[in-house]
Amino acid sequence: MIETIQWTDGGVIMIDQRLLPAEETYVTCKDYREVAEAIRSMVIRGAPAIGVAAAMGVALGVLHAKAERLDAEFDEICGVLAATRPTAVNLFWAIDRMRRVFVEARTGRLEQIRARLVGEALCMHQEDIAVNRAIGAHGAALVPDGRTVLTHCNAGALATAGYGTALGVIRAAVSSGKKIDVFAGETRPFLQGARLTAWELQRDGIATTIITDNMAGHFLRSGRIGCVVVGADRIAANGDVANKIGTYSVAVLAGENKVPFYVAAPLSTLDFSLASGDAIPIEQRPAAEVTHVFGVAVAPGGVRVENPAFDVTPARYVSAIITERGVARAPYEESLRGLK
Ligand code: MRU
Repeated sequence: MIETIQWTDGGVIMIDQRLLPAEETYVTCKDYREVAEAIRSMVIRGAPAIGVAAAMGVALGVLHAKAERLDAEFDEICGVLAATRPTAVNLFWAIDRMRRVFVEARTGRLEQIRARLVGEALCMHQEDIAVNRAIGAHGAALVPDGRTVLTHCNAGALATAGYGTALGVIRAAVSSGKKIDVFAGETRPFLQGARLTAWELQRDGIATTIITDNMAGHFLRSGRIGCVVVGADRIAANGDVANKIGTYSVAVLAGENKVPFYVAAPLSTLDFSLASGDAIPIEQRPAAEVTHVFGVAVAPGGVRVENPAFDVTPARYVSAIITERGVARAPYEESLRGLK
């Protein structure tokens, strides 16, 4: 399995997702600020992977923190990591979980506090893989045999500690003997689909075809696609789903063509504090991601650009949400609360 992120004595090691598939290069973060920068610049990306990276960042920060300034430094570490990316709620979920452990362990000796925090981060890494396998097991049954599955962005091993959420469902369906193939939407502008999903699935020997984002409607109408499976960055209490920009268009086109649209996500992606998706903060990324492809300008200099990294799919387009505790269906307000 691909190692997205690893805790080592020499620092937190991440595969550099900006360079895949051309180069398999690893980045070592030696302090929490480097972890924060890796999240911000998308060396590591994908909601659950961002959460694990943040937890390891907090642990790394406390390893180097001074005993006499521990509380102040802890707040600073959490603040810097929390300011990296606003949409994936797993980031804040992970930081809160580390804070709870810190508060509990605070009266102990510094070495014990450090050990507790490192232990918690490692536990979150292992837990995430187990959660994804459970999501896969619940989701596999929903995937129609003998058909094509359309996915968007990368919700695979690279977006998690391993196995993946949407790609976990696909992997589990293949392991259960279903004969399926995958269409990966390329996912402009960062190309997570073309670069990362295609790379991951090809390594697993799962038949994969890349389509450009604007081909989704054509193929959804063709009758070839049996279902859509995507991941999520934040799911509001009513089941509205924030995910990579372009997901909403795919969901509407799936609905129009009566193709089931499934969202695979861990319970840590649920945000019950938000009544609907309208309140989910949407990250705006730099214009250069749109105007340039691998450093080459594809648009005239000085042109105005919009680059929202995520969109919100209203719950009415979501056929089911697949979690580690089971499959939720509308009305989501009740079904998601029941699972959590
Ligand atoms: O900007 P990214 O690459 O972090 O966005 C990733 C996505 O939108 C994924 O679909 C989502 O995080 C789910 S990953 C299991």
